[in-house]
Amino acid sequence: MTGITSLPGYPVSRPRRLRLLPGLRDLVAEAGLEPRSLMLPVFVSERVAKPVEIESLPGHYYYPPRSQELVKLIQEALDLGVRSFLLFGYPRQKDEEASRAHARDGPVQEAIRSIRRELGYEPVIATDLCICNYHSSGHCGLPGKCRFGDCIDNDSTLELYRRIAVSQAEAGADIIAPSGMMDGQVKAIREALDDNGYWDTAIMAYSAKYASNFYGPFREVLDSAPKWGDRRSYQADPRNARDALVEVALDLQEGADIVMVKPALAYLDIIRLVKERFPYAPLAAYNVSGEYMMVELMARHGYADRRSLMMEVLYAIKRAGADIVITYHALEAARLVKGQ
Ligand code: PBG
Repeated sequence: MTGITSLPGYPVSRPRRLRLLPGLRDLVAEAGLEPRSLMLPVFVSERVAKPVEIESLPGHYYYPPRSQELVKLIQEALDLGVRSFLLFGYPRQKDEEASRAHARDGPVQEAIRSIRRELGYEPVIATDLCICNYHSSGHCGLPGKCRFGDCIDNDSTLELYRRIAVSQAEAGADIIAPSGMMDGQVKAIREALDDNGYWDTAIMAYSAKYASNFYGPFREVLDSAPKWGDRRSYQADPRNARDALVEVALDLQEGADIVMVKPALAYLDIIRLVKERFPYAPLAAYNVSGEYMMVELMARHGYADRRSLMMEVLYAIKRAGADIVITYHALEAARLVKGQ
């Protein structure tokens, strides 16, 4: 059998023919973007009484966990067709136990309840599960000792993650999203959820989460930069593609329902690789804060049209193979898609 590329006359010699009119370009466009597959990160803070704009993420706000403004934001997103949300909590204070992460009245728990009260199960609520924003160390795991000195202890952290997962599920989360990159975290959380009757709460694992410089603005949002050292002893090494394959395989074995690559734009090859090797798992890609910032800054300085640049980035992530895109541009993109 001859392949199509060996047929005479292929490929066409005038690719511009199908680029000449908007209708023609739309007709043959491969990547599409639907608001239903965008997930919006939302920051709920115990430190504010009304929405306060976040300096490092222009256009985004801290919302009080129990507020009409938060419900209004979710409603506005639903009206635009964006149905899923990733909640991050900013506690009144951080401590050695990350206690606000699993408190019954913690910021995320309260936010879920108030959204549910008003909007029921229409919004899909995912919760980030980590302690870097709740623990005084700023690390994603509990400080401990290794043979050579200070290090992040894996297994005691898992115990804490179990408690956080159960408390988020109890508050009504649809999806728990562990982002701390501890080994065995998906298994631990799956067990804890099942043991407590939450078999129907899903897990979206931040599987291939790289030790990236693109998280800078986010760490300012939640004051969650590590107070000592860095995250390279648990997040994946940017030089390695293999880490992504190993982590995704492990997370799926451990019971992840959705896997994730993060960041997105600088890791398009990883998205493609994971999609090809694990086609049966829904794949999310997190277009992170630094990537958002690059778009915003270029636009602000007049080097690009904001919306056009934003869409180019989102299409790239879709084209690479992401099913779900977690992005700070979710509402803006949905507006554009809806012609607003
Ligand atoms: C860590 C976490 C990070 C982000 C979300 N959860 C990264 C980190 O601080 O290592 C980054 C998201 C972004 O940059 O938009 N639990």
